[in-house]
Amino acid sequence: MRMYDIIKKKRDGGELTTEEIGFFIRGVTDGSIPDYQISALCMAIWFRGMTVRETCDLTFAVRDSGERVDFSSIRGVRVDKHSTGGVGDKTSLVVAPIVASFGVKVAKMSGRGLGHTGGTVDKLEAIAGFRTTLSDEEFIRQVNEIGLTIVGQSKQFAPADKKLYALRDVTATVDSMPLIASSIMGKKLAADDDCIVLDVKTGSGSFMKTVEDSRALARLMVDIGKNAGKKMVALITNMDMPLGNAIGNALEVIEAVETLKGRGPADLTAVCLTLAGRMLSLAGMGAPEVCEERAKRAIEDGSALKKLMETVAAQGGDAECIADPARFPRAKYTRDVLSPHTGYIAHVDTEAYGLASLALGAGRNTAEDAIDYSAGIMLGKKTGDFVQQGEKIATMYADSPDLFAAAEARFLGATQFSEEKPEAEPLVYDIIE
Ligand code: URA
Repeated sequence: MRMYDIIKKKRDGGELTTEEIGFFIRGVTDGSIPDYQISALCMAIWFRGMTVRETCDLTFAVRDSGERVDFSSIRGVRVDKHSTGGVGDKTSLVVAPIVASFGVKVAKMSGRGLGHTGGTVDKLEAIAGFRTTLSDEEFIRQVNEIGLTIVGQSKQFAPADKKLYALRDVTATVDSMPLIASSIMGKKLAADDDCIVLDVKTGSGSFMKTVEDSRALARLMVDIGKNAGKKMVALITNMDMPLGNAIGNALEVIEAVETLKGRGPADLTAVCLTLAGRMLSLAGMGAPEVCEERAKRAIEDGSALKKLMETVAAQGGDAECIADPARFPRAKYTRDVLSPHTGYIAHVDTEAYGLASLALGAGRNTAEDAIDYSAGIMLGKKTGDFVQQGEKIATMYADSPDLFAAAEARFLGATQFSEEKPEAEPLVYDIIE
């Protein structure tokens, strides 16, 4: 088999066989296919697309390119949730303890943030002492004893995806439906869960900017998961504005804890309850509406918060900070952002908000960059709110006052004002089963 022929076949609109896709991914993994041929095939896929069968084959080849995790010694139903990435998306920190408080097992392997999106592992590392790397034995024991573990992906999961993603990132081929679906699902399927709830973000802060594209991606990923024998549901949720008010690691953990105490922002709480309801329902705990009510009660009676505290303590973190947020890292400097106009906030470029937070030190430009856990932005006003000129719309947090000017310019440049109140957008656009 020759890579040249595979590239040419896809370039001309052909359908690749399982063997050709397997040959490609084996060559990506062992380094025998040069970067220019990998990139050329990614571009041909970008233009020509793939059938569901080809995308499934690509996903399974990516999944099988590295280590798999054996969850067979975990007792009970294992359910996971995956977000396609957004700004202020701290849902895992709320949803995982809710679900685990019912005895459903959540063995979570999460990613780090890159670019404008945050990552659960970085957020958890804002808690002093929290260990995001555990041995396999520790990981399984904790899931069996407590029901919840959240770690980073320390294993050599789907190494083909690492290589492919790095090349897609620099060859303008990230935003291809089959490439995104196989990348996300290839990694997800390397872990051994029974049920997966996907949170497919849509809007200015996500990879998919339109609801139609998000729906198509969700459908594709649900089909791939079902082909692999998983129970699947996907939610299409709004990322046309940040979720909740906090952007930045410690700020987001504090907001997640407030949500578990029943005092969270309405949008974050609503999306978390829908996600938790769907996870519990897939795990066999009843109809989605019934499970959503149960999730609500787990917040009201404190059992979800208790589960988070147990998990933090078990992973060596300072569980006291859950009761007393003053123990979280605090930024040396703060600056209020004042509204330049009187009117409604009509629309925000959520990706740019994420990049403003990154410029304050909360994120990284390259995988090696260090993070300032205390940095970020706390939104005072969101889309649809009326503001007076000079009124505070956000507060920025940073380790140096020199970082404020550029972040503030980016933030204000991303905020559109209007005299008319914008129509409210749904928080959950659709649920794909
Ligand atoms: N997240 C991934 O893991 N892969 C993609 O291609 C896009 C988002």
